[in-house]
Amino acid sequence: MEYAPAKFHKSARKLAPAGETFTYSPENQRRFDEIVTRYPPDQRKSAILYALYLAQNQNGGHLTAAAMDHVAEQIRCTSAEVEDVVSYYTMFFTKPVGKYVLNVCRTLSCALLGAERVTEELCAKLGIKPGETDASGTFTLLEVECLGACDRAPVVMVNDDWHERLSPEQAGKFIDDIRAGGAAAFTGCHLHKEKK
Ligand code: FES
Repeated sequence: MEYAPAKFHKSARKLAPAGETFTYSPENQRRFDEIVTRYPPDQRKSAILYALYLAQNQNGGHLTAAAMDHVAEQIRCTSAEVEDVVSYYTMFFTKPVGKYVLNVCRTLSCALLGAERVTEELCAKLGIKPGETDASGTFTLLEVECLGACDRAPVVMVNDDWHERLSPEQAGKFIDDIRAGGAAAFTGCHLHKEKK
């Protein structure tokens, strides 16, 4: 009897669309090549988070399969290993997100100090629920676990900038400020400012 290969896959997991061909820009390639020298040559994979950030930022805020393949080539591992990392961390996206991603911490310290009310204010202001992007494509709202600044709760991380001790009113005003001035409205973390 002639052998017929199976026509099913064990896993129902769907691979992300490949997207357009992706390679680092010359500037990002230079940055990656410099960062990777900080790791022992046999632990090149340790640079994966930085490599993914570069790719995600270059690609407008999310990672395509082509971008993950490129990262795999750069750090010399398999694409599956890169996908494992991407699917584990909440700060990597495989679908388009807003220009500003609002990550509201919902873990204990922030919850006790009013994170839920901050989220409610942001939902009302943007007309969306957590996990959604507003109609203009500018803001994506997420609830995330501890951001590591519990003593300055409640905390909202916007892209990679920190906003701490935020009241709901301040959170609402912050949206107005970003709409008016973009990233110039970012304030940075208190710890950094207090050291100045
Ligand atoms: S509980 Fe929110 S930063 Fe730790």
